[in-house]
Amino acid sequence: MLSAALHQQISHQKVLPVLVLDNNEQARVLADCLLEFQLNAIEITLRTPEALNVIEFLATNYPELIVGAGTITSADQLQAVQQSGAQFALSPGATESLLHAGRQAEIDFIPGVMTPSEAMLAQSYGYSLLKLFPAEVSGGCALLKALGAPLSELNFCPTGGISVRNLAQYLALDNVPVVGGTWLAPIDQIRQHNWKQIRDNMLQLQAILTD
Ligand code: 3PG
Repeated sequence: MLSAALHQQISHQKVLPVLVLDNNEQARVLADCLLEFQLNAIEITLRTPEALNVIEFLATNYPELIVGAGTITSADQLQAVQQSGAQFALSPGATESLLHAGRQAEIDFIPGVMTPSEAMLAQSYGYSLLKLFPAEVSGGCALLKALGAPLSELNFCPTGGISVRNLAQYLALDNVPVVGGTWLAPIDQIRQHNWKQIRDNMLQLQAILTD
Protein backbone atom coordinates (compact mmCIF):
# COMPACT_ATOMS: atom_id res chain seq x y z
CA MET A 1 0.00 0.00 0.00
CA LEU A 2 1.25 3.45 -0.78
CA SER A 3 -0.22 6.75 0.34
CA ALA A 4 -0.86 9.36 -2.32
CA ALA A 5 1.50 11.78 -0.53
CA LEU A 6 4.44 9.38 -0.62
CA HIS A 7 3.77 8.35 -4.21
CA GLN A 8 3.65 11.99 -5.23
CA GLN A 9 6.88 12.87 -3.42
CA ILE A 10 8.96 9.98 -4.75
CA SER A 11 7.61 10.42 -8.28
CA HIS A 12 8.51 14.09 -8.02
CA GLN A 13 12.08 13.59 -6.81
CA LYS A 14 12.59 10.55 -9.12
CA VAL A 15 15.44 9.20 -7.03
CA LEU A 16 15.18 7.58 -3.62
CA PRO A 17 18.54 7.93 -1.87
CA VAL A 18 19.48 4.74 -0.02
CA LEU A 19 21.63 5.54 3.00
CA VAL A 20 23.73 3.29 5.22
CA LEU A 21 24.40 5.39 8.33
CA ASP A 22 26.46 4.69 11.44
CA ASN A 23 25.37 7.58 13.65
CA ASN A 24 23.28 10.71 14.08
CA GLU A 25 26.12 13.05 13.16
CA GLN A 26 26.37 11.52 9.68
CA ALA A 27 22.56 11.69 9.49
CA ARG A 28 22.50 15.39 10.43
CA VAL A 29 24.98 16.47 7.76
CA LEU A 30 23.31 14.37 5.09
CA ALA A 31 19.80 15.49 5.99
CA ASP A 32 20.76 19.13 5.51
CA CYS A 33 22.31 18.31 2.13
CA LEU A 34 19.39 16.16 0.95
CA LEU A 35 16.84 18.81 1.90
CA GLU A 36 18.82 21.43 0.01
CA PHE A 37 18.29 19.31 -3.11
CA GLN A 38 14.61 18.61 -2.30
CA LEU A 39 15.35 14.94 -1.77
CA ASN A 40 12.90 14.76 1.13
CA ALA A 41 12.04 11.06 0.88
CA ILE A 42 14.95 8.82 1.86
CA GLU A 43 15.63 5.19 2.73
CA ILE A 44 17.73 4.35 5.78
CA THR A 45 18.87 0.74 5.64
CA LEU A 46 18.78 -1.51 8.69
CA ARG A 47 22.35 -2.49 8.00
CA THR A 48 24.15 -0.79 10.88
CA PRO A 49 23.72 -1.25 14.65
CA GLU A 50 22.48 2.33 15.07
CA ALA A 51 20.00 2.31 12.17
CA LEU A 52 16.85 2.39 14.33
CA ASN A 53 18.25 5.27 16.42
CA VAL A 54 19.17 7.15 13.26
CA ILE A 55 15.64 6.72 11.92
CA GLU A 56 14.23 8.05 15.20
CA PHE A 57 16.68 10.98 15.19
CA LEU A 58 15.76 12.01 11.65
CA ALA A 59 12.02 11.50 12.12
CA THR A 60 12.10 13.63 15.28
CA ASN A 61 14.41 16.42 14.17
CA TYR A 62 13.62 16.73 10.46
CA PRO A 63 9.85 16.86 10.02
CA GLU A 64 10.33 17.89 6.36
CA LEU A 65 11.93 14.52 5.64
CA ILE A 66 9.86 11.47 4.72
CA VAL A 67 11.97 8.84 6.41
CA GLY A 68 11.79 5.35 5.01
CA ALA A 69 13.44 2.22 6.37
CA GLY A 70 15.06 -0.34 4.12
CA THR A 71 16.41 -3.87 4.29
CA ILE A 72 13.25 -5.01 6.10
CA THR A 73 13.23 -8.80 6.09
CA SER A 74 10.71 -9.62 8.83
CA ALA A 75 7.40 -8.47 10.24
CA ASP A 76 9.18 -7.69 13.53
CA GLN A 77 11.51 -5.28 11.77
CA LEU A 78 8.55 -3.62 10.10
CA GLN A 79 7.02 -3.09 13.53
CA ALA A 80 10.32 -1.79 14.93
CA VAL A 81 10.87 0.82 12.23
CA GLN A 82 7.29 1.99 12.56
CA GLN A 83 7.91 2.53 16.29
CA SER A 84 11.09 4.45 15.48
CA GLY A 85 9.14 6.91 13.36
CA ALA A 86 9.69 5.63 9.83
CA GLN A 87 6.91 6.69 7.46
CA PHE A 88 7.47 3.89 5.00
CA ALA A 89 9.49 0.73 4.62
CA LEU A 90 11.01 -1.30 1.83
CA SER A 91 12.14 -4.87 1.57
CA PRO A 92 14.59 -6.53 -0.81
CA GLY A 93 12.05 -9.36 -1.08
CA ALA A 94 8.43 -10.36 -0.62
CA THR A 95 7.74 -13.22 1.78
CA GLU A 96 4.07 -13.92 2.38
CA SER A 97 4.47 -12.97 6.03
CA LEU A 98 5.93 -9.57 5.06
CA LEU A 99 3.29 -8.96 2.40
CA HIS A 100 0.65 -9.66 5.03
CA ALA A 101 2.38 -7.54 7.71
CA GLY A 102 2.73 -4.67 5.24
CA ARG A 103 -1.02 -4.63 4.75
CA GLN A 104 -1.61 -4.46 8.51
CA ALA A 105 1.07 -1.81 9.14
CA GLU A 106 0.22 1.83 9.71
CA ILE A 107 3.07 2.87 7.41
CA ASP A 108 3.51 2.39 3.67
CA PHE A 109 5.31 -0.74 2.58
CA ILE A 110 7.12 -1.40 -0.71
CA PRO A 111 7.98 -5.08 -1.18
CA GLY A 112 10.87 -6.25 -3.34
CA VAL A 113 10.47 -8.54 -6.34
CA MET A 114 12.60 -9.94 -9.14
CA THR A 115 10.28 -12.24 -11.11
CA PRO A 116 6.77 -12.08 -12.66
CA SER A 117 5.48 -14.58 -10.08
CA GLU A 118 6.76 -12.46 -7.17
CA ALA A 119 5.27 -9.34 -8.73
CA MET A 120 1.92 -11.13 -9.19
CA LEU A 121 1.98 -12.38 -5.61
CA ALA A 122 2.61 -8.84 -4.32
CA GLN A 123 -0.13 -7.53 -6.61
CA SER A 124 -2.56 -10.09 -5.19
CA TYR A 125 -1.96 -8.51 -1.76
CA GLY A 126 -2.82 -5.09 -3.19
CA TYR A 127 0.66 -3.63 -3.74
CA SER A 128 1.11 -1.57 -6.89
CA LEU A 129 4.58 -0.05 -6.37
CA LEU A 130 7.27 -2.70 -6.05
CA LYS A 131 11.01 -2.48 -5.57
CA LEU A 132 12.80 -4.33 -8.36
CA PHE A 133 15.88 -5.74 -6.64
CA PRO A 134 18.63 -6.31 -7.60
CA ALA A 135 17.69 -4.33 -10.70
CA GLU A 136 20.76 -4.48 -12.91
CA VAL A 137 21.68 -8.12 -12.44
CA SER A 138 18.07 -9.29 -12.71
CA GLY A 139 17.64 -7.86 -16.22
CA GLY A 140 17.42 -4.10 -15.72
CA CYS A 141 15.52 -2.05 -18.27
CA ALA A 142 14.87 -5.05 -20.54
CA LEU A 143 13.19 -6.93 -17.68
CA LEU A 144 11.06 -3.89 -16.74
CA LYS A 145 9.92 -3.46 -20.34
CA ALA A 146 9.00 -7.14 -20.53
CA LEU A 147 7.10 -6.97 -17.21
CA GLY A 148 5.24 -3.87 -18.37
CA ALA A 149 3.27 -5.71 -21.05
CA PRO A 150 1.48 -8.37 -18.96
CA LEU A 151 1.67 -6.50 -15.62
CA SER A 152 0.75 -3.04 -16.83
CA GLU A 153 -0.87 -1.95 -13.56
CA LEU A 154 2.36 -2.30 -11.62
CA ASN A 155 5.05 0.32 -11.07
CA PHE A 156 8.60 -0.41 -10.01
CA CYS A 157 11.38 1.28 -8.09
CA PRO A 158 14.48 -0.40 -9.54
CA THR A 159 17.32 -0.53 -7.03
CA GLY A 160 20.68 -2.26 -7.11
CA GLY A 161 23.26 -1.14 -9.64
CA ILE A 162 21.61 2.18 -10.48
CA SER A 163 23.82 5.25 -10.90
CA VAL A 164 24.22 8.36 -13.04
CA ARG A 165 25.36 5.99 -15.78
CA ASN A 166 21.94 4.39 -16.26
CA LEU A 167 19.25 6.20 -14.23
CA ALA A 168 17.87 8.17 -17.19
CA GLN A 169 17.24 4.93 -19.13
CA TYR A 170 15.25 3.55 -16.20
CA LEU A 171 13.26 6.74 -15.65
CA ALA A 172 12.31 6.81 -19.34
CA LEU A 173 10.25 3.63 -18.81
CA ASP A 174 6.49 4.01 -18.28
CA ASN A 175 6.47 1.71 -15.26
CA VAL A 176 9.35 3.40 -13.41
CA PRO A 177 8.36 6.54 -11.44
CA VAL A 178 11.47 6.42 -9.25
CA VAL A 179 14.80 4.65 -8.92
CA GLY A 180 16.72 3.93 -5.72
CA GLY A 181 20.38 3.66 -4.89
CA THR A 182 23.35 4.28 -2.68
CA TRP A 183 25.48 6.01 -5.32
CA LEU A 184 24.40 9.52 -4.23
CA ALA A 185 25.90 9.03 -0.79
CA PRO A 186 27.98 5.84 -0.77
CA ILE A 187 29.04 4.44 2.59
CA ASP A 188 32.76 5.00 1.97
CA GLN A 189 32.23 8.69 1.15
CA ILE A 190 30.05 9.08 4.26
CA ARG A 191 32.63 7.41 6.53
CA GLN A 192 35.39 9.58 5.07
CA HIS A 193 33.23 12.68 5.69
CA ASN A 194 33.64 13.45 2.01
CA TRP A 195 30.66 15.81 2.03
CA LYS A 196 31.98 17.76 -0.93
CA GLN A 197 31.92 14.67 -3.14
CA ILE A 198 28.42 13.79 -1.93
CA ARG A 199 27.26 17.32 -2.70
CA ASP A 200 28.83 17.02 -6.15
CA ASN A 201 26.95 13.73 -6.65
CA MET A 202 23.70 15.57 -5.95
CA LEU A 203 24.60 18.42 -8.27
CA GLN A 204 25.32 15.86 -10.98
CA LEU A 205 21.93 14.24 -10.36
CA GLN A 206 20.20 17.61 -10.49
CA ALA A 207 21.85 18.34 -13.85
CA ILE A 208 20.68 15.00 -15.27
CA LEU A 209 17.13 15.41 -14.03
CA THR A 210 16.77 18.93 -15.38
CA ASP A 211 18.34 18.03 -18.73
C1 3PG B 1 19.61 -1.55 -1.36
O1 3PG B 1 19.79 -1.75 -0.18
O2 3PG B 1 18.52 -1.21 -1.81
C2 3PG B 1 20.77 -1.78 -2.29
O3 3PG B 1 21.90 -2.16 -1.60
C3 3PG B 1 21.09 -0.59 -3.11
O4 3PG B 1 21.90 -1.02 -4.16
P1 3PG B 1 23.10 -0.10 -4.71
O5 3PG B 1 24.10 -0.03 -3.59
O6 3PG B 1 23.62 -0.84 -5.91
O7 3PG B 1 22.55 1.24 -5.04
